Amino acid sequence: MEKPVCPFPDKGTLADDLLETIRAKRQRDIQWQAGRSFCLIYYPGEEREHAIKKIFDAYYADSGLNPTATPSLAELEAETVSMCASLFNGTAETCGNVTTGGTESILLAVKTARDYARKTKPHIKKPNVVLPQSAHPAFMKAFHFLEVDFIATPLNSDYSADVAAMEKAINENTIMLVGSAPAYAHGVMDNIEAIAALAKRKNLLCHVDACIGGFMLPFIKQLGYAVPPFDFSLEGVTSLSADLHKYGYAPKGSSAILYSNHELRKHQFTLYTKWNGGVYGSPTITGTRNGGCIAAAWAALKVIGNEGYMEMAAVTMQVTDKVMKAISEIPELQIISRPVMSMVSFQSHAIDVYMLADELNKRGWHFERQQLPPSLHFTFNYIHHAVADEFIADLKACVEAVKDKRLKQLGNKVQTAAVKGLSKILPAGTLAKFNKAGAEEIDNENKAAMYGMMGALSGTDDLEKIVLDFLDNIYTAKPNK
Ligand SMILES: Cc1ncc(COP(=O)(O)O)c(C=O)c1O
Repeated sequence: MEKPVCPFPDKGTLADDLLETIRAKRQRDIQWQAGRSFCLIYYPGEEREHAIKKIFDAYYADSGLNPTATPSLAELEAETVSMCASLFNGTAETCGNVTTGGTESILLAVKTARDYARKTKPHIKKPNVVLPQSAHPAFMKAFHFLEVDFIATPLNSDYSADVAAMEKAINENTIMLVGSAPAYAHGVMDNIEAIAALAKRKNLLCHVDACIGGFMLPFIKQLGYAVPPFDFSLEGVTSLSADLHKYGYAPKGSSAILYSNHELRKHQFTLYTKWNGGVYGSPTITGTRNGGCIAAAWAALKVIGNEGYMEMAAVTMQVTDKVMKAISEIPELQIISRPVMSMVSFQSHAIDVYMLADELNKRGWHFERQQLPPSLHFTFNYIHHAVADEFIADLKACVEAVKDKRLKQLGNKVQTAAVKGLSKILPAGTLAKFNKAGAEEIDNENKAAMYGMMGALSGTDDLEKIVLDFLDNIYTAKPNK
């Protein structure tokens, strides 16, 4: 049997040496510090980062597992939730917890709904949640883990939830409705007012996914942007998730899940009272919780405050408006729908957007490639004020460069169709096998062919196999080159 690639270290290593190792490894990472990434990272600037880090460091080694051991952390968590409740028009009854991220907040909202239904609607044996197709896959993860069914409903032509379709989908086993404020892919806001009213009328719970919008919408509203109601100001809203580690500008590993009342939240907690180690009660999914993240979430709200968030939201919207104007002046590109805030996606009827993506990548820009329809997605934040003009110039140049590649695009289409056919006869659809099978353009520099193929294979078992192989490979240690 071959041994694992990495031996267990014999002795300790100096941090400076480790930093050297990391420096080399990080060369391949996105250069977000230079504002080159339009996803994943939200950065409030050096001064604010420094202040938030100080509080993180103060709790670096602390655990939020046992609130009686660190009552100060429990207090910081409760205060964070209370500040969020104020921001989202809650009452003194509004309660919740700090979690590790949007996915955990959503998992908890689904668990709470499931367990609340078990108690209040015991006749429901196979509960389901009705949500628009645009809802974040974190919900599907939650449904999978918690064995809750779901009914994903079609969207309106503007990519918002079709509330009439949601109403039609509700059946005797439905326990909750979901709306996004806004949904990630196209930055489009669902009609939360209508979804919440429908939930109330049908005696269902209503979760608002404000993971990405929670710490932008209240501030751009104050700046005069049109923001429809989405929070506890609406009577039917029973829970809301908002990520502190996105536009809250807290470090990664912090989100808030809020409920309209304490009775509901009690169904979020997990108890086991018969363990020989003692009575075990845990508010969220993880056991031990990083004290630093909880404290830093509290600190971000305190350090930045309404004024700071308004300032950063204003800068972010200036960048967004500027880039949107530039995109709308490029005839080959069409902005998808009307984003409510700072996430913009565009498609093209004239050029291959995945080829455009490759060109932009070559110039050091990082963003998301989307499917259904093929489009590119950009999330803007405060860090981008310094790069907007350079990005616009590059975008224009890259569109020009791709225009000349139309013939090649045709080739890729043929290739995609060929691979689609080929995938049906491959025993195991691995990316490597696709590569060997002749999709010669799959490499880090030119991914257009690969994304074209993935679009063609969307929803198939073959694509699932490819992605599983990819994940398995990327989380496996490789020998040092
Ligand atoms: C609308 C929405 N919901 C949920 C999530 C999941 O959040 P996380 O990646 O923090 O788990 C995201 C992430 O982008 C999101 O945009």
